[in-house]
Amino acid sequence: MLVCAFLNIVILGCFFVSTSEHRTCVAAALKDVFTYLTRYQGQVAVFDATNTTPERRQVILSFAKDNGYKVFFVESICDDPEIIAENIKQVKLTSPDYTDCDKEEALVDFLKRIECYQQTYIPLDDDTDRNLSYIKIFNVGSRYLVNKVQDHIQSRIVYYLMNIHVTPRSIYLCRHGESELNLLGRIGGDPGLSHRGTKFASALGDYMRDQSISDLKVWTSHMKRTIQTAEFLGVQYEQWKALNEIDAGVCEEMTYEEIQEHFPEEFALRDQDKYRYRYPKGESYEDLVHRLEPVIMELERQENVLVICHQAAMRCLLAYFLNKSDDELPYLKCPLHTVLKLTPIAYGCKVESVFLNIEAVNTHRDRPELNKIELNVTKDK
Ligand code: F6P
Repeated sequence: MLVCAFLNIVILGCFFVSTSEHRTCVAAALKDVFTYLTRYQGQVAVFDATNTTPERRQVILSFAKDNGYKVFFVESICDDPEIIAENIKQVKLTSPDYTDCDKEEALVDFLKRIECYQQTYIPLDDDTDRNLSYIKIFNVGSRYLVNKVQDHIQSRIVYYLMNIHVTPRSIYLCRHGESELNLLGRIGGDPGLSHRGTKFASALGDYMRDQSISDLKVWTSHMKRTIQTAEFLGVQYEQWKALNEIDAGVCEEMTYEEIQEHFPEEFALRDQDKYRYRYPKGESYEDLVHRLEPVIMELERQENVLVICHQAAMRCLLAYFLNKSDDELPYLKCPLHTVLKLTPIAYGCKVESVFLNIEAVNTHRDRPELNKIELNVTKDK
């Protein structure tokens, strides 16, 4: 469920077991929902279970009523045998339920499971359930029915579910070619490409042509270095301001050493919580994640796309597709002159990292050790 990183969602499961075990599992999972939404201040919890009967749904509704939560049901109805067979092949056979299992046996087992569900399954009813909030998705998005959307988050979930698709495709992420400011170790600004950066742009053109994708979309930021990189592809590209690099405010065009010297407290604060730290007159990674949300939504709608962006922006996109936490996100490795090819598969994304063989400076700054940060802060006092 990829929407997680951007809505602060947690997914809690419930397995297919006997009635009493089922009740115990449901109670445990709902307790986790409660803990997540209260203690961890989560916004949305996904209770991922086969809530196939009105009774099971009632347990969830009562729990929500007792705690003042809103419920939004997502019902996926699929009766197209081809889609079912493909889904079993792509998703179920590789699921943890069938690890080390013979493929044929697993297939027979899963079809039996569907038969069991069919005996008890009672879909949400347009009449008796008219007061509930829900979306019904028919045959993986060939038709939808949306009922009683109550708020902004629910309407975003509907928008998201109506825009995702299962058509095989790849998303290519890379940074611009090495820039003149990268060479000087300076962050931000709007510089042009270095000589090696231009060589990368040309190599990227060759690499993408080798991929032979006829319907490839190319997106850049509004910054010179990404546009200069895209020019070498020889195809049309779209510029997104939302893809611009993190705004380092008063620290723009400085080296990390200069920031440490002129703004020692700011430097230490950033090391303490890099995700939430906002540069004076600039942005934080958290701001960037919000800024990038429309890009993510559009990426979900599209098929093959090459996104040419920047170190921090690329980390946010990567974290979304690889489901990385806020804490890991600002330290993800996105080196220059390297393309990451992401191919969605069941339960995640396959990642291929392709270095295009043009040397470049390393702009990655490792996470500092915590005791060193504390020492620096104490010294400053
Ligand atoms: O150094 C290149 C750069 O893209 C800067 O423009 C930007 O401020 C920085 O990377 C982001 O990386 P970090 O968050 O690790 O400083």
